[in-house]
Amino acid sequence: MSYYEIQGGRPLGGTLAIHGAKNSVLPILAACLLAPGQSVIHNCPDLSDVSVTLDILRLLGCRADREGDTVLIDASALGRSDIPEHLMREMRSSVIFLGALLARLGTAELSYPGGCELGPRPIDLHLSALRTLGAEIWEEQGALCCCRGQGGLSGREICLSIPSVGATENIMLAACGCPGLTTVVGAAREPEIIDLQNFLRSLGAEVKGAGTPVIAIQGGASLHPAEYRVMGDRIAAATYLCGAAAAGGEVELTGVLPDHLTAVLTCLEEAGCTIHTGPDRIALAGGPSLRSISPVRTAPYPGFPTDAQAVLMAALAGGEGATLFVENIFDSRYRHVDELRRMGADIQVAGRAAMVSGVGRLHGAAVRSPDLRGGAALVVAALGAEGTTQVSGLRHIRRGYQALDKNLRALGADIREVP
Ligand code: EPZ
Repeated sequence: MSYYEIQGGRPLGGTLAIHGAKNSVLPILAACLLAPGQSVIHNCPDLSDVSVTLDILRLLGCRADREGDTVLIDASALGRSDIPEHLMREMRSSVIFLGALLARLGTAELSYPGGCELGPRPIDLHLSALRTLGAEIWEEQGALCCCRGQGGLSGREICLSIPSVGATENIMLAACGCPGLTTVVGAAREPEIIDLQNFLRSLGAEVKGAGTPVIAIQGGASLHPAEYRVMGDRIAAATYLCGAAAAGGEVELTGVLPDHLTAVLTCLEEAGCTIHTGPDRIALAGGPSLRSISPVRTAPYPGFPTDAQAVLMAALAGGEGATLFVENIFDSRYRHVDELRRMGADIQVAGRAAMVSGVGRLHGAAVRSPDLRGGAALVVAALGAEGTTQVSGLRHIRRGYQALDKNLRALGADIREVP
């Protein structure tokens, strides 16, 4: 099994262009189903989750071709609405196809989604919202079957009890196929939701309010294909910033909006980093050693993103002083803690809380990625650690990071993949 071998202790330096956002491009690719014809998506990252999504589109009857960081999706010949279990199991976000298939074809059949093991990953909010829009949904031999109900699909008001990112996106897509006004109250406000709204508008959909708790979709119009550029990946950016904070040095990231990362930048400055920002760039200079910061409580946007919890923890674990983390979004998102302990980290977990006591410097070890962001956290820890670290379980990392080792080498890290 291949692994990264990392010699820690080398400061990072240089400029890196951040790839397109995984959590934006996945719903945008699903949204291509809404418009017959060829859509062109630029800044599409080369990630295994994107490859799975393109395979699903092809299986459904679409053409899906990649030319560098541009993908061409032609949904004219969309003919199937059933996604086989082996593709659904590869990533949770495949549930996003529910809304798009219902809108375009009026039917969908998916097995329960897979993805990272972050505790229970229910989709009750997705299903209850689609039922409110008029879908009939039932289970048949482990698959979810959905179709337009007797009365057809129509716009409704939907109140979300949790600002679920995926449920908000699924409703936006389904509502495009529902004549009338759909209002999502309690919607997720993440930047990826705004990116999806902008793409839907480019298809000719009437959507407004993304980025606020209330999103309105006037559905039923025929949509046309479009050309669109996906936003930069704010979580990948947070990962590289935490890597530079852990290893020391000065890096500049381009192609990412600082406003998308305010909560993370605030924590890194409090920990002793110096940060300068421009319209689409972030520069960070790491201090001699990271110090403890105020409690880090993950929350829906604009709060501290749960996806950056592990990488910030990894950076602070090798610093000084104690920092409390509270993971409020997922039930089980500390699977990286045991692996960080192998590198000498002092972390005490009690339910949703984790107390990280900086040990001055971690040491190298053989560690295994438990999930996507946990794997990235181990790489961050290794960059600042004393000695050699081997990080295995690279399939998790490849889901969300394009050329992580190559990019870190370009910034001066000593990292190589050992086949
Ligand atoms: C999206 O997942 C992201 N994935 C996640 O990123 C991210 O951590 C999460 O949003 C929160 O920001 C993609 O966009 C592909 P949620 P999603 O629905 O949509 C509960 C990464 O590392 N919930 O906002 O699945 C759920 O259990 C990934 O890139 C229900 O109870 O997240 C969780 O506790 C990991 N019922 C909370 O809401 C539902 O029907 C937030 O989940 C749906 C969600």
